[in-house]
Amino acid sequence: MGSVESARAEARGSCVNLRAGFRPRRGYHVGMQARVSGAIARVERFMATVDDAMAVPREAGAFMHALILATGAKNAVEIGTSYGYSGLWIASALAENGGRLVTIDHTERKAVAARGAFESAGLADIIETRVGEALDVLPTLEAGIDFVLNDADKPNCRRYVELLAGRMNRRGVILTDNTITHAEQLAGFVEWVRRLEGFFSTRVPVGNGMEMTVKV
Ligand SMILES: C[S@@+](CC[C@H](N)C(=O)[O-])C[C@H]1O[C@@H](n2cnc3c(N)ncnc32)[C@H](O)[C@@H]1O
Repeated sequence: MGSVESARAEARGSCVNLRAGFRPRRGYHVGMQARVSGAIARVERFMATVDDAMAVPREAGAFMHALILATGAKNAVEIGTSYGYSGLWIASALAENGGRLVTIDHTERKAVAARGAFESAGLADIIETRVGEALDVLPTLEAGIDFVLNDADKPNCRRYVELLAGRMNRRGVILTDNTITHAEQLAGFVEWVRRLEGFFSTRVPVGNGMEMTVKV
């Protein structure tokens, strides 16, 4: 089994364990609202029918969900909405914290599909789906950001972090995806971000590989 395949197989297992670890409470379905887990499953089924989803694996979605719950993050930004898969994992944790998500994609067709998924999960009220170039949208965002998923075009990863660094709260986290699957392409970014002043950055070998950059 290849590394991505085995990571995905492991993801399925770890997610089951993670969910089993939750103590369900009233209105919750193994730790997550049934409406949200239903929407996640529907997007997974839909993504199996298209070849342009490029979503994070389930284990990475579950990891982000747990991280947001653990840190109490409230204001989140996602660069690269696609069909809303990662957005569902992120926003459903933000909902627990009383938070909000701004998600950005330049492909209108995907944004429309993602909005549908957010609606069906009951999360539309806390998610703003912006259609546009990330380089245009990011400078318009207010400061006070606690969590970022950096998951759009890889050549701009550094520029996106540069645009957001000053808008991050202390202890805020930026996750940059694909450090395993796009290791060569992201090598320069990783080298740069590990030396970024005022931040601590480290590799998290979850899903497709994530660089976790924390504002100190
Ligand atoms: C890897 S996919 C995102 C997957 C998503 N985060 C998930 O896990 O479900 C990358 C997305 O970024 C979008 N994208 C690429 N370059 C972009 C740019 N310059 N500005 C805005 N969106 C961009 C693409 O349309 C694509 O949907």
